Amino acid sequence: MPGAIYAEGLVKTFGDVRALDGVDLDVPEGTVLGLLGPNGAGKTTAVRCLTTLLRPDSGKAVVAGVDVLRQPDQVRRSIGLSGQFAAVDEYLTGRENLQMVGRLYQMPGRAAKARAAELLEQFHLADAADRPAKTYSGGMRRRLDLAAALVVSPPVMFMDEPTTGLDPRNRQQLWEVIKQLVSGGTTLLLTTQYLEEADHLAHEIAVVDHGRVIARGTSDQLKARTGGERVEVVVHERGHIATASQVLRGFGKGETTVEDHTRKLTVPVTGGAKLLAEVIRELDSRGIEIDDIGLRRPTLDDVFLSLTGHAAETEEQTGADGEGDAGPKDRRPKKETVK
Ligand SMILES: Nc1ncnc2c1ncn2[C@@H]1O[C@H](COP(=O)(O)OP(=O)(O)OP(=O)(O)O)[C@@H](O)[C@H]1O
Ligand SMILES: [Mg+2]
Repeated sequence: MPGAIYAEGLVKTFGDVRALDGVDLDVPEGTVLGLLGPNGAGKTTAVRCLTTLLRPDSGKAVVAGVDVLRQPDQVRRSIGLSGQFAAVDEYLTGRENLQMVGRLYQMPGRAAKARAAELLEQFHLADAADRPAKTYSGGMRRRLDLAAALVVSPPVMFMDEPTTGLDPRNRQQLWEVIKQLVSGGTTLLLTTQYLEEADHLAHEIAVVDHGRVIARGTSDQLKARTGGERVEVVVHERGHIATASQVLRGFGKGETTVEDHTRKLTVPVTGGAKLLAEVIRELDSRGIEIDDIGLRRPTLDDVFLSLTGHAAETEEQTGADGEGDAGPKDRRPKKETVK
């Protein structure tokens, strides 16, 4: 039996761009799927197809047991969506925005009011509740938008990059809200660019690149595929990068990544702190001065590098009708892989 969110061979093209190139998903009821991928991977397009906002060219999608292409209206009644860009009415206050959503879902006036007050409190917006949303900061709008998606508790929720733009405290608080939601039985598909976020929240992660799911598994499984820990070294002099890279290759379980402008080298290892001490001794014996050295867990970049052979770098947006996601994003420097 398919899960609460099910997709098979979803394809969506925009002109020459194959935004979705045959996406398969299956999310069991009451679990969280984290859809992880770099800019332009197709995350938002997948969410829009599954939430009836966009019609795929081909493929099949079933949400909450209902065929998305055949019965979109019925699907809409069973889902909640918080989009990548906050969809709040600028001229209404926070409170009015939330009450309006309640009324749209046919809640009685008093219930809508009570629910709005509860959410404003929960999302730390009570002080600003009666100000028009256009006076809110980006993070406040984000929170209001998420609150709006939670006015009614639908059995299936979609959140597109729910915590992008939130400060660490608000991100943590939102994670708690999401955990509560899921413990109540909600099925959630969440897109994110942060492995850490998927780590905290997702039962399973699907890594998307160029419109395809290129890997799936629990966070631990993905990290294990990525080769465990990393040694990260910053050498003092640029001229020492090549020798340091040679040293690291001797200890590494995979390719060494070099970030030239920061003089940072990274290599996957097994062996932990003991190995770190050996690396330091070896670098020292070759006369390489180091500014910083440490062990760290794999990041999204590492997962990408190991899965695709390239770093999770920013792609230029090609959205022709302006609906593509062109917001300010993490513009990470390109990395080179030393073979
Ligand atoms: N309405 C559109 N018209 C034309 N191209 C589009 C449109 N929407 C998306 N695309 C293109 O489809 C591809 C996938 O875009 P999508 O928005 O799904 O990526 P994403 O994974 O959500 O990226 P981001 O992390 O930047 O939000 C991109 O190349 C994008 O430019
Ligand atoms: Mg997106």
